[in-house]
Amino acid sequence: MIVDLRSDTVTRPSQGMRAAMADAEVGDDVYGEDPTVNAIEAEVAELLGHEAGLFVPSGSLGNQLGLRMHAKPGEEIVCDSLAHIARAELGHAAAFSGITFRTWQATRGLIDVEAVRGLIAPDAGPYLVSTKAISLENTHNFGGGTVQPTAQVAAVIELARSCGLGLHLDGARLWNAHVASGASLPALASGFDTVSVCLSKGLGAPVGSVLVSTPSRIAEARVWRKRYGAGMRQAGILAAAGRYALAHNIERLADDHARAARLASELGANPDNVETNIVVLDVADAAAVAGEAREAGVFVSALGPRFLRLVTHLDVDDDGIKRAIEVLRPLVQG
Ligand SMILES: Cc1ncc(COP(=O)(O)O)c(C=O)c1O
Repeated sequence: MIVDLRSDTVTRPSQGMRAAMADAEVGDDVYGEDPTVNAIEAEVAELLGHEAGLFVPSGSLGNQLGLRMHAKPGEEIVCDSLAHIARAELGHAAAFSGITFRTWQATRGLIDVEAVRGLIAPDAGPYLVSTKAISLENTHNFGGGTVQPTAQVAAVIELARSCGLGLHLDGARLWNAHVASGASLPALASGFDTVSVCLSKGLGAPVGSVLVSTPSRIAEARVWRKRYGAGMRQAGILAAAGRYALAHNIERLADDHARAARLASELGANPDNVETNIVVLDVADAAAVAGEAREAGVFVSALGPRFLRLVTHLDVDDDGIKRAIEVLRPLVQG
């Protein structure tokens, strides 16, 4: 038995999802003629309380297009030092958009409003780089699936508004924040100018993210999507998987959260720090633990010398969790 806890991106489309893909009505999306893509763009925009959406192949592209709606070459965006946009998107903002980042330190990825206030430099003049936007991540991946506290998010939104800064939300796992906190999706996504959400993480679609914003920003992002070579043709086959995921796989994220909590309590992580589907363990030698666990068929990610990450998802059931605990407990506590 293989139990793959490396990421919630490893899921394979279910039979129902494959059937929806096979039956999808399609057209040429570069001409705006794919009804299934048009439907998912409208559906996600409405779910999140925004006006327009753009279907893109990946969360990285959703973020990249969102960020470039805020800043030009030579300008900066601020985010926390563990943010996925800063650590794991291979420098896209610099490589493609000429945007630099500065970061604040964040425990578990949690927002620290005073740190943000101390970092931003709007209209910094001819000597310093001007900050154009603040980017937040909810839930926070490398922070350990952290749900951002509503009051802190509201305070950052107010700060940005008072300084004329834009706001981007990397909501790759916003669905998990919604299910864990009970806050509505529009409440979690409101106040941000651009929001990127993923269909290919906990929701189990093979491909796809959606960027939502105003119609004019989305029209501009659509041009950049094509310019980057990501204008897709009969992409309704992929959008159908995403629509199926939205209809079937949001509420069940609660099961993933319960399984992550079980892993945390059995493997000695602080249960208060496990709010959604990600468990971070501090171990003496993460690579060694990951290597030994792999030999026993349990796959986990070593993301730093001591940083082990386990992610629950819809392809890991209770038996898988039991097996993971059997294999990992002696390795992490021994
Ligand atoms: C928080 C967060 N944002 C963005 C992404 C990027 O998504 P993708 O792998 O589809 O580019 C990920 C991927 O794991 C993520 O965890």
